Parts: sequence; C-alpha cells; structure tokens
Amino acid sequence: MSELDKYKRFTVTSALPYANGPLHIGHLAGAYIPADIFVRHMRLKKKDIVYICGSDEHGAAITIKAKKEGITPKEIIDKYHTQIKTSFEEFGISFDIYHRTSSAIHHELSQEFFLNLYNKGEFIEKESEQYYDEEFDQFLADRYITGTCPNCHNEGAYGDQCEKCGTSLNPLDLINPKSTLSGKTPVLRVTKHWYLPLDKYQPWLEEWLIEGKRNKWKTNVYGQCSSWLKAGLQPRSMTRDLDWGIDVPLDEAKGKKLYVWLDAPIGYISATKQWALDKGKDWEQYWKKQDNTEDDSYLVHFIGKDNIVFHCITFPSILHAHGEYILPQNVPANEFLNLEGDKLSTSRNHAVWLHEYLEEFPGKQDELRYVLTSILPETSDSEFTWKDYQARINNELVAILGNFVNRVMILMHKYYNGKVEGSSALVDENLNQQIAAIYDDVEQ
Ligand code: MF3
Ligand code: ZN
Repeated sequence: MSELDKYKRFTVTSALPYANGPLHIGHLAGAYIPADIFVRHMRLKKKDIVYICGSDEHGAAITIKAKKEGITPKEIIDKYHTQIKTSFEEFGISFDIYHRTSSAIHHELSQEFFLNLYNKGEFIEKESEQYYDEEFDQFLADRYITGTCPNCHNEGAYGDQCEKCGTSLNPLDLINPKSTLSGKTPVLRVTKHWYLPLDKYQPWLEEWLIEGKRNKWKTNVYGQCSSWLKAGLQPRSMTRDLDWGIDVPLDEAKGKKLYVWLDAPIGYISATKQWALDKGKDWEQYWKKQDNTEDDSYLVHFIGKDNIVFHCITFPSILHAHGEYILPQNVPANEFLNLEGDKLSTSRNHAVWLHEYLEEFPGKQDELRYVLTSILPETSDSEFTWKDYQARINNELVAILGNFVNRVMILMHKYYNGKVEGSSALVDENLNQQIAAIYDDVEQ
C-alpha cells in the first residue's frame, strides 16, 4: 500500500518543452521517463489519472531560434512541435494529451488568469528603464543583449546570465552592452510592467512550502526553495515588451505580451481543458478545489532542476492568488544527465538526439529507456556513456533478465508440461511474503 492510495484522482504534468529544437536523452531522463513510470504504474492500479504535456511556444527561446534559422516564429514552433511530439510517441511516453501553448484555448485561459489577478489588485504596476534598440524600434529581451560580465569580464555575457561564471545578471549590470539585433549600443527607455508581488506571498510560502513540505519533497528541491526564501523574494514582472506571445489583455498595454513563465504553466491547465473537451470529462475536477479536500486531485509536476523556482514558487503563488485552484502536492525535480564526462549542450551539439538514436538503433527504444531509468539523476547529476549503455544491456537485460526468463520457461516445460498451475498453495508461503514486500518496496 502506498500513501497515495487514498487519493481518487491524479493530475500529472511533465515540463512543456520549448518548441525550438529536437529532444535529447537529457530531456527523457529529467522530466519524462520518471513521470511516465509513475503514470503507467497508477494506471495499472486503475487510478483516475491524467498525464499532461505539450509545447511551450512563446518567449525569447522561440524568437531567437527563428532569427537563427531565418524563418518566422510560427514556422519554428510548427516544425519542432511536430518533431518533438513524434519523438515522445516513439519512446512510449504515454501522455493523455500533447497540447500547444499557441492554441486559442490557451491564450484565452492565460488572459483570464491575468485579468483575475489584475481585477483583485494583486499586481504592482511599475515604470522602469529598459534597453531599447532604436534601429529595430523595439525593447530588448534580456537574451537580446550581450556585453561584458561585471564579475568575470567574459565579453559574451547575456542580459540575464553570464554562462562563463554562472552569475545571474540584470541587463543593466552589463559593461558595454550591445543589441544582438543591430549590434549597436542600446538606449534606455521608460516602460511600464505588471509585477507579481512575490514578497507579499512570502509568509504564505513559508507556511505552505517550508513548513508543509519539509521531509515530503526531495531534498534537492526543498533545499533550493528554502535558500530562495531565505534570500527574500522580490516582485517579478509578468509582462514583457515583445512581439511574440500572448497579448496583455489591457487597453493601456497595447503591444505588450504576457511573460512566458506566466503563460507556460497555465498550459498544463489549458491542455487538461482540451483533453476534457475531447473525452467528455470535467477538467475542473483535476484542477480546482472540490468541496471536500479529500476529493481534490493529487497534482504533481515532473521537471528538471532549472525549472524549480517557477514550479515551486511562482506558479503556486499564482494559483494561490487566484484562489480556486489546487496546489502541487509534489514537484520531483531531477538533476542533470551528463554525457561522456561533459554537460549536454545544444549549442555545442554534444547530445544524443532522440531522432538520431532511432536512425542508428531502430526498434531499440526500450533498451534506451531501461538504461536511462537505471541512471536517472534523481539525487545528483548522473552520467550516460556508451560503454555503460552496452554493459547494462548485455549484463543486466540479456544476461540476468533474459536468462532468468529463459530458465523459467525451460523448467516449466521440463517439469510442469509448460503450464503454470495457478495455485499459490504450491508456493512456499515465506517466498510469497517476500515477493509481496518487494512489490511494496519498488512502489515506494
Ligand atoms: N519550456 C520550459 C523549459 O524548457 C519549461 C516550461 S514548463 C512550464 O525550460 F511549466 F512552463 F510549462
Ligand atoms: Zn561572468
């Protein structure tokens, strides 16, 4: 018996991948294989469960890629949405729906969330100076500004982070900033944005998360959250000056878009709405508080460690401020998977891409799933190597599992006419108990 058995209903999400590039083994090991194992297990137990995912199609991640490939953002998301969806299918990740944040149902729900908080007076409206490219006539997202890192003097630091020394930055921190669009020095212009008052939610977060999730959440997740809360939360802007994304539904915000980290997690909910429409279900049972807390759905987010703050602090604060929604019971974030002694990297093309794996090892998806499952980076970063892949398949799958099945079959034919008699009375009672205990262990 698991303590989850008392819940009637489960809402399970895996991080929505940006539709700006193909999937690699790090994605599978981070947020998809773990969730798929959990979901398949619960389905075997006949639980009412919905498993949600889809493409994250907004934000600078998309527009930067479009610029690189010389095509429109819409062409980028259509191309990669299809490719990613196919890869998930080929590797047996059993979503109930793989949706998209470019859909109308998602745009509507995201605007509804924004207006709900706006009408309650939750947002702080604030004007500030931000970098503007006069040649391209637009404000610059953090990633569109490069300059010299004030910390390590790397000349290629981005407005939000120096990838060399890892310091997280503000565009105004950069020495000698340049726009990546025109290559020119940007100017400062005043712009207005709507901020989520995370500082105001801090006391609530201390109670719900720090008190409520102690010894319940994984230590890597809990530890990161407590250190953020210890440092003290600041208001965070929920709008952006961008031309790609969901319109801010206010007259005075013409041309502004919702911050991608506001709309993306709402994508879990809009995807559930679409699934419910397709299947004749009631989506609210999976997301909204029911009359009795025992009837609430058990919500769990599977993610990679770079998404912890958004799933444990920002999104729960939004759900809490809205008021009608349930909160995540658990956020089992994984650490990173490395490859042959080095970090996986898209820009350096250091990765095992799923579509390429399938070309070289057609039909061998379960072998890869098995190996990744045995090295999931659950408590610290882990390492994939081809030698280890080969050894695990030969020594574990073939030699141990394959041999075991083979011997059982042979002995069954030799002594029992190839039939299992089906009475556990024939089996040693002690052995039966040991088997039951193993089942519980594995389930935990
Ligand atoms: N697209 C994000 C990433 O790849 C994850 C979004 S998860 C969601 O890091 F909650 F926003 F949906
Ligand atoms: Zn630096």
